Amino acid sequence: MGKRAVYPGMFDPVHNGHCDLIERSLRIFDELIVAVLANPSKQPLFSVKERLEMIDEATAGLTNLRIISFDGLLIDLVARENADCIVRGLRAITDFEYEFQMALMNRKLRSTVETVFMMPHERYTYLSSRLIKEVTSLGASAAELVPPLVEKRLVEKFSRK
Ligand code: PNS
Repeated sequence: MGKRAVYPGMFDPVHNGHCDLIERSLRIFDELIVAVLANPSKQPLFSVKERLEMIDEATAGLTNLRIISFDGLLIDLVARENADCIVRGLRAITDFEYEFQMALMNRKLRSTVETVFMMPHERYTYLSSRLIKEVTSLGASAAELVPPLVEKRLVEKFSRK
């Protein structure tokens, strides 16, 4: 059986850094499951359906990839899906503390699952969904930062407000 990994996140919305990480992960793992957190405590800009659609469109043509949503503990999803690893992106040292804590908590909850950190291409190290939402809500274009459908949806969201 091949190696299966879960790449979890809010993906609110997916951006080019996420897509870069998906492609890199597919070179390492036999199957990748992109898992979108459905009901977090914070209120996402995009619904789960919208977030799944945007990832789906952005990854069209890639094989050995599944895109799903989940609720509850990540580690339970990883067990249900019989996955071996969790993939997380590390952009800068500022990501490290939060990621380190999550990785160790997940290991405490299930010691057989490893968290693998990957770096996106350096051209994406400053990208975050939060900043993309902030600048687009104030009128900037995110065309070079996100897949085309995401850019379209951001424009629609913020022109309606
Ligand atoms: O895109 P994000 O906000 O960095 O993703 C965070 C995410 C979804 C990976 C994290 O919040 C998560 O795993 N949530 C599910 C609930 C859970 O398992 N919490 C304990 C983490 S140690």
